Amino acid sequence: MKTLILKTPSFETLIRIGEGLVDRLDSQLGTLHESVLLADKALPSSLIEHVAMAASCTDVVRIGVGESEKTLRTYERIVTYLSDRRYSPATTLVALGGGSLGDIAGFVAATYARGIKYIYVPTTLLAMADASVGGKTALNVRHRKNIIGAFHQAEDVFIDPTLVKTLPPREIASGMAEIVKAALIGDARLYAGIRDDNPSLEALIAGALRVKIPIVEADPFDRGRRRLLNYGHTLAHALETYHEGRYSHGQCVASGMLHMARGLPFEHELSAVFARYDIDTDIPYDPETLFELVTHDKKRRGDTLDIALVETIGKGFVKTIPFHEFKTFLKGWDKT
Ligand SMILES: NC(=O)c1ccc[n+]([C@@H]2O[C@H](COP(=O)([O-])OP(=O)(O)OC[C@H]3O[C@@H](n4cnc5c(N)ncnc54)[C@H](O)[C@@H]3O)[C@@H](O)[C@H]2O)c1
Repeated sequence: MKTLILKTPSFETLIRIGEGLVDRLDSQLGTLHESVLLADKALPSSLIEHVAMAASCTDVVRIGVGESEKTLRTYERIVTYLSDRRYSPATTLVALGGGSLGDIAGFVAATYARGIKYIYVPTTLLAMADASVGGKTALNVRHRKNIIGAFHQAEDVFIDPTLVKTLPPREIASGMAEIVKAALIGDARLYAGIRDDNPSLEALIAGALRVKIPIVEADPFDRGRRRLLNYGHTLAHALETYHEGRYSHGQCVASGMLHMARGLPFEHELSAVFARYDIDTDIPYDPETLFELVTHDKKRRGDTLDIALVETIGKGFVKTIPFHEFKTFLKGWDKT
């Protein structure tokens, strides 16, 4: 088992990673005063029941998840449930699910009774390698993704890579795209391993988190350096909106990264890496419409946009560019 720690002046998270960890969850958790499990109802009942028992949960709330469920309606349903049953500020929320459930659970934990303790057991590769760490929680409003949220970090994260066994291949590819992103912005050796070898899931997840953790520690509230983690994401979010969820988040991120790498020496090699992990990056779009969608990006500040760039593998950086310059990253406009 690997243990990583994320530490900032206001919070500390212990992240444990190990195959079969969920089977030993009860011995890791200690005594929880009062706890409720929020679980993705698509997960096997045996897993939900096992985690509920290991965490001594008095209640289990099962919700349908996915992007379309990250709404105020879902949020209201959960907090109403907790309030009707008089759950106190000493309650611990245990979240079992992918990044969508994590975003909802985190926001509930950030706001119920002005903030309660929160433990996360991620069940998708993307959530294990990225979303489970960093404290960002989110809800969508109509088509505006993640426009409501708060920073609220899980106190403990338990990552058991064997849980991805039941994940559809599209979701595995989606998680791999975020792992490739982490390697590109912060770890050339991890990237070489992904390109040339077959690292274990445990090693890939730990590698990606080792890139993310110091970036979050340096900028917990996303004011500057943390924008590096958004490599490929400005385009990805626009592509997700453009195609209304037909392509996975990871596919859109991978496509976004390839656009940012256009004309660079590693462009074709990166394309081959995505092909190796069955990540289809060929996502069509009309450049004018996509650029219009980019104008809604949260990282926009007036006429400028903060974007993450990688020119040398493993050494990402953030640059503020005039907004119109972003067009050069889209197909159909020449990159000069
Ligand atoms: N907070 C953050 O830092 C952060 C970072 C990256 C992404 N996100 C958010 O995460 C969300 C995407 O998360 P995701 O990619 O984990 O997808 P997801 O949570 O939407 O899950 C994808 C699908 O897999 C199913 N599923 C989950 N675990 C499973 C398992 N073990 N076996 C079988 N099916 C399973 C779910 O029911 C769902 O249908 C997006 O909303 C994105 O904005 C958040």
